[in-house]
Amino acid sequence: MGYALSGKTALVTGANRGIGEAIVDALVAAGVRKVYAAARNVSALGPLVARHGSRLTPLQLDVTNAAQIAAAAATAADVDLLVNNAGIVGFFGGEFTDPKWIEGGRQEMEVNFLGTFAVTQAFAPVLAKNGGGAIANLNSVASFVSFPILAAYSASKAATHSLTQVTRAMLRGQNTQVFGVYPGPIDTKMGEVLTLEKASPADAARAIVAGIIAGDEEIFPDKMSQGTGPAFFADPKGLERQVAGVQAVA
Ligand SMILES: NC(=O)c1ccc[n+]([C@@H]2O[C@H](COP(=O)([O-])OP(=O)(O)OC[C@H]3O[C@@H](n4cnc5c(N)ncnc54)[C@H](OP(=O)(O)O)[C@@H]3O)[C@@H](O)[C@H]2O)c1
Repeated sequence: MGYALSGKTALVTGANRGIGEAIVDALVAAGVRKVYAAARNVSALGPLVARHGSRLTPLQLDVTNAAQIAAAAATAADVDLLVNNAGIVGFFGGEFTDPKWIEGGRQEMEVNFLGTFAVTQAFAPVLAKNGGGAIANLNSVASFVSFPILAAYSASKAATHSLTQVTRAMLRGQNTQVFGVYPGPIDTKMGEVLTLEKASPADAARAIVAGIIAGDEEIFPDKMSQGTGPAFFADPKGLERQVAGVQAVA
């Protein structure tokens, strides 16, 4: 079922740069009435405010801060679409036995998985009150297949894929549509760790918004993910063997 964006109110976490900033631009272009641009540091939202004026409302939100999450849900009580975009790579590229995977992985689980879960918990009643609405989670191709250069990050994104499924199941009764977004390499600060060919954040964001409007539960917003996603569903073992050899660290 498609999700019409015209006239809606959205909230995007991690909106100050990268894919999040581009999603805000794409939502406004698609006719969203109002966007809460959520960031840890609201002063970093200056360029978005300059571009979108009164359609943009800056909101302070660290997705690991329970008090800020509760305050955001109280302030942004008119949200129809929640975009869980904020995310981190805590560590990449080590040998299997490197102890840094553990501390990096702890941070990735805290932000990518538990942060997304906590924000979604806080906004679920808001969406219900507003008729159900929709949620889009920024997962990754690494949600389906683990990349050795991003070992713990891949696990955190497998966790957000699992969360996406359970959110869809548990919020179906309140009429909330849930979208999983599974990008390949995108040319952002996070993407700097990869030397693979990358899509631009603007192109990826336009594809994400188009996928939401079309009602695609799994959104593959770039060339790499458009190959990897279907390959996973067709031949998961073959994809695992293929990705096991990817060592493209900058
Ligand atoms: N780039 C890729 O190749 C790629 C591929 C697949 C999936 N993704 C996913 O897409 C999403 C966006 O990634 P990106 O490439 O745009 O990364 P990015 O350029 O590094 O931006 C990450 C954003 O998340 C914010 N953030 C980090 N920790 C946060 C926290 N605790 N609370 C709130 N915001 C926080 C950052 O804010 P600060 O400026 O305050 O740090 C920043 O706005 C992530 O979930 C990522 O895992 C990216």
